[in-house]
Amino acid sequence: MDRIAIISDIHGNLTALETVLADIASRGITRILCLGDLIGKGPQPAECVDLVLERCESVVKGNWDYLATKWRDRTFMQWHRAQLGQQRIDTLYELPIYLEFRMSGRLVRLCHASPHDLFHRVFMHTEEHERMRLFAPTETLNEEADVLGYGDIHGAYVEHFVGPQRGKMIFNAGSVGNPLEIPQASYAILEGEYGSAEQKAFSITLARVPYDIEQAVHLAEASDMPHLEEYIDELRTGIYRTRDFH
Ligand SMILES: [Fe+2]
Repeated sequence: MDRIAIISDIHGNLTALETVLADIASRGITRILCLGDLIGKGPQPAECVDLVLERCESVVKGNWDYLATKWRDRTFMQWHRAQLGQQRIDTLYELPIYLEFRMSGRLVRLCHASPHDLFHRVFMHTEEHERMRLFAPTETLNEEADVLGYGDIHGAYVEHFVGPQRGKMIFNAGSVGNPLEIPQASYAILEGEYGSAEQKAFSITLARVPYDIEQAVHLAEASDMPHLEEYIDELRTGIYRTRDFH
């Protein structure tokens, strides 16, 4: 059986990222994929980009990774851009917006928010017909996905569909660096036979990892990052500051 760890939404929180990578390594898992939002919010975007690119075999683009280029004139983004430098900003902009592969007979598709739109936000409670748009055929394989994994909402869950969509599974990997349900880092583990078109055992597990939040707070305070108070509150409480700031 192959195991693949799926991490997402690091948001410049190196303390949480290092803790999650150590947890993944402690389980003997060597393959890691990342679902975007490496930067934004936290104080160490450059370190997080470098570590993710070093340790993950594929990385998809998140909305923040895209906005680092598109919102270059906004004051708070200028701070993040200055930490990153142009080369990392360009690398983030060039990332793909979805990945697809087969595992134990299922077509697995991974993206940040949606494979069709970086800003299409889908929650656990979003109506099923709208969530099913994430499974719609893409240009790459022109097939409906069987398993859809994403990030973006900073809230981890797994759901097996019933009724007409039975057999399909959707999961959210949650957030490594900015979880917004409980203040513990999260990631997902897929287990099955990678690359196999044959129906075989397949599972999705969500891992929750406590990390040193006060260390992350200390690093944030030692920087001159924008929106410091809101960031610290979110790290400590897991409660979202406002709308549309993922
Ligand atoms: Fe995010």
